Amino acid sequence: MKRLRVLLAASEAWPLVKTGGLGDVVGALPVALRGLGVDARLVLPAYPAARQALPDARPLARSALYGADITLLRGELPAGGRRMLPVYLIATAAFDRPGNPYQNADGVDWPDNPARFALFCRAAAALALGHLAPDWRADVVHAHDWQAGLLPALLSLHTQRPRSVFTVHNLAYQGLAPAADAAALGLPAEWWRFDALEFFGQLALIKGGLVFADRITTVSPRYAQEIQTPEFGCGLDGLLRYRAHALVGILNGIDAEQWNPATDPALPYRYDAEHLDLKAADKAALQQELGLAAEPRALLLGLVSRLVAQKGIDLLIDALPHLPADVQLVVLGSGEAAYTEALRAAAAAQPARIAFRAGYDEPLAHRIQAGADALLVPSRFEPCGLTQLYALRYGTVPIVRAVGGLADTVVDASAENLASDCATGIVFETASSAALLAAIERALALFRAGAPWQQLQRAGMAEDHSWEHAAGAYLELYCHLLDQELPGA
Ligand code: ADP
Ligand code: GLC
Repeated sequence: MKRLRVLLAASEAWPLVKTGGLGDVVGALPVALRGLGVDARLVLPAYPAARQALPDARPLARSALYGADITLLRGELPAGGRRMLPVYLIATAAFDRPGNPYQNADGVDWPDNPARFALFCRAAAALALGHLAPDWRADVVHAHDWQAGLLPALLSLHTQRPRSVFTVHNLAYQGLAPAADAAALGLPAEWWRFDALEFFGQLALIKGGLVFADRITTVSPRYAQEIQTPEFGCGLDGLLRYRAHALVGILNGIDAEQWNPATDPALPYRYDAEHLDLKAADKAALQQELGLAAEPRALLLGLVSRLVAQKGIDLLIDALPHLPADVQLVVLGSGEAAYTEALRAAAAAQPARIAFRAGYDEPLAHRIQAGADALLVPSRFEPCGLTQLYALRYGTVPIVRAVGGLADTVVDASAENLASDCATGIVFETASSAALLAAIERALALFRAGAPWQQLQRAGMAEDHSWEHAAGAYLELYCHLLDQELPGA
């Protein structure tokens, strides 16, 4: 049978460019799909950082799309063993800007983001249809988040077209633009309707995916249910209920090579479940690095996150004055100024107990996962969440709120769950600093008791969250869309 050709389109992919979990997922999924025999390929905007990370990328085609000159570049990334992942980059002036894919140096979104990513979608559609580089066309296009939202809509204009899958990583980011942009972007007039791209008088590029994709997926089963409710639906819950038959939640995996405490090059001491004494050495090294008191009996909490409202950072900030005495905290994150200022002040007031590192630091994220005893994820909503999955693998007990993928991946240390040895962390229900504090106090009691804590660590480390399972679920979905049997079935 012919090899299935799948084009994944997104605004970020590790190791080319990453601002959050989207980058992790879009970097790892095509690699896992290739491992399953799929001809998966990736298309990304050619930001300067992506071009630097892919120095061997060569021009393949040139084209003019909606008045913009586009160059299609093609390079490759290692994909395990001798396998390589083909990567296409869309080079055009709008992406030739330094820094973050979405923001200028002051952290402000580029005002022309809708136009930039609409252009990216036009180029990706042309590529998928075989119009840009005639030697390859896609059977399935898998578009991710609003930046690739227009892609399923553009493909729907063609009769001979690939099937489309749209994955919602975060419904709160919708690619909104003023009504005038709809015409300026050259979109068909009939898309200016509530059942197409119009959204309360604005253009919402995410609706290109939600309305026009053959299938919609999101990154955990629980979030797939939540987004059909007004509480989590961000105004799109009605549309998602309408499309419920085409919507499925597939839990993200993690890159088990990159996030492996036994081989992680970022760690001072590498360890596995049989050598947790070496994890204690990582804790001591982290305390020293951060200037925290060298206290092995303190419960060291870590948090690695974008500092935005979604992540419940305010709950943590409000809890700081009430943290039990033998609790230490390290936060690594970047984001909103109000949060960074509050965290900086708290760390300055109690430097031996609280450390804050502003900015984006991949190796430090790994050292925190290894050196912390517990990892906080107090999110108000969380489509999947990856840091709690990394924590499970690193024997770092996750303390999470019972939402989205956090609820799907962490099993609370209730007496019953401990007795049946399925508990992996601490789960709390209410989005309040009191509930977060109560969860931290429960963690502290288990930590002091010793044996139940090690039980949680071992149970988490024994789980397998690698990509094989999720990639298999996506492959099944692609085959279903094409009326094909699963390869090897
Ligand atoms: P989201 O995608 O909503 O930001 P996830 O938990 O899915 O949340 O993924 C976050 C990813 O970004 C993880 O890989 C995490 O380690 C990483 N990350 C977040 N903030 C930072 C930071 N300041 N430095 C390094 N890595 C970070
Ligand atoms: C989003 C979500 C996060 C998810 C990630 C990868 O950024 O906020 O919960 O893990 O995408 O799917």
